[in-house]
Amino acid sequence: MSLPPIDAIASARLTIRPVRESDLDDLLEINGDPEVTAFLPYSTWQSALDGRSWLARMAALGEAGSGRQLVLELGSSAKVIGTLLLFRYEESSARAEIGYVLGRRHWGQGLMHEALEAFCAHCFAQLGLRRLEAEVNPANEASNALLLRVGFTREGTLRQRWTAKGATYDVHVYGLLREEWPAGGGRSRSGPG
Ligand SMILES: CC(C)(COP(=O)(O)OP(=O)(O)OC[C@H]1O[C@@H](n2cnc3c(N)ncnc32)[C@H](O)[C@@H]1OP(=O)(O)O)[C@@H](O)C(=O)NCCC(=O)NCCS
Repeated sequence: MSLPPIDAIASARLTIRPVRESDLDDLLEINGDPEVTAFLPYSTWQSALDGRSWLARMAALGEAGSGRQLVLELGSSAKVIGTLLLFRYEESSARAEIGYVLGRRHWGQGLMHEALEAFCAHCFAQLGLRRLEAEVNPANEASNALLLRVGFTREGTLRQRWTAKGATYDVHVYGLLREEWPAGGGRSRSGPG
């Protein structure tokens, strides 16, 4: 069975909704910034063509039922300021992985924290997921801090897990269980690794 569709999730400042082709201009502004893509597995977007190829890959994930590509729309402007991906869905284990990106001028305002709180709640309550996972490069301080702040537990480190853009790197693996939600939200916890 596929991941159920996600229509729209509202938080105080954001609407989290499925990506559309008309979002690609805003997304080029975000993913065309090398500081934003520094820790992402894909190259900095150079043109609209990169956006269209990415959208086709995300559409294929959606059609296969193993992922859902969402965007973050800022309520005050209706501008798309980031992305949120739910992927690697394993139905029998009711688990999936998350990935997220925010445009640089919106960093440090608690926006991704707000988005993840709303999104995790939706995944556990509406999609029936039991476990959410994330993998983060240890050098990505903002992302590691974010997950701990949301309530994820750092469960370990996978050594030399990925090679991308000419570099091989470790990842910290994070997990959040439905039974920990929402009690774990907002507390910092780190485990081994
Ligand atoms: C990672 C990212 C999504 C964080 O988004 P954000 O909205 O700026 O994060 P928030 O403002 O919600 O901050 C969440 C926590 O992380 C901390 N944090 C944010 N940026 C930080 C930084 N550069 N260094 C250390 N901690 C940081 C915040 O202090 C906050 O903790 P607090 O509430 O205890 O103060 C954003 O930096 C980003 O898009 N980076 C590029 C893409 C990327 O690396 N994605 C993740 C791939 S795994």
